[in-house]
Amino acid sequence: MRDAARFFQMKRQGEKIAMLTAYDAPNARAQAEGGVDILLVGDSVGTNILGYASEREVTMADMVHHIAAVRRGAPEAYIVGDLPYASCATPQLAAQNAKTLRAAGADMVKFEGALPDVVRAIKAEGIAVCCHLGLEPQNHEEKRLKGKTAADAKALIDNARALDAAGMDMLVLELIPEEVARAVTQAVKAPTIGIGAGRFTDGQVLVVCDTLGYTQNNFKHNKRYADHGTTMREAAAAYAHDVHSGAFPAESNAFKMPKEEREAFGV
Ligand code: KIV
Repeated sequence: MRDAARFFQMKRQGEKIAMLTAYDAPNARAQAEGGVDILLVGDSVGTNILGYASEREVTMADMVHHIAAVRRGAPEAYIVGDLPYASCATPQLAAQNAKTLRAAGADMVKFEGALPDVVRAIKAEGIAVCCHLGLEPQNHEEKRLKGKTAADAKALIDNARALDAAGMDMLVLELIPEEVARAVTQAVKAPTIGIGAGRFTDGQVLVVCDTLGYTQNNFKHNKRYADHGTTMREAAAAYAHDVHSGAFPAESNAFKMPKEEREAFGV
């Protein structure tokens, strides 16, 4: 049963929650088989997979396309889908778009910002909601640490409490000091999931492309578990070399006609 209640229980029992972004069916399958608790189809798909310059270019159609792919790859997984830029301009629009993402395969939807009315409108449709505070990539062009001053930290906690009171089911905290993430985690009932938010949130999320090393970037908050960037470049170079030199395809890669058909064909 795919129910957000499971993550509240994990929080209460002090069990850490592992979330990872997923954008396609093969990665989704691998993550589900690997024991990742939640697959996040984030709007980070835009800059990491689709070649966009900003998260703001991601559309509802992009999100529907990738959520559906992740659902096909991992039919039993718990999937969170991002509501893209401007899709929550009003609570009514947010609720409508949340229904669209749920129909595509999301179990929960996520949006950025301190908007308790949006939480209430989506929950009224019976859809679970993940909020996102700290660095909000859709709203903050400059990607830098948030909540550094005591005043900013207090405002963040107030915002988290208001979202919690509105009924949020989960809270992503991005790029904030770990003291602040710990205080927010203690202040709210909903499980918190950190990215660049230190050790004391209820769970962690990373961007799968960063964990797999697709690019040369290696952010302070990231841990790289593989070097697919090098593997992809080396495989592409070896393939191009084989084609250019005639080493591929070999006879073993080719298909043959049956002998009698070849004779009838006259070759
Ligand atoms: O879009 C995304 O991948 C996210 C994570 C960075 C939390 O929002």
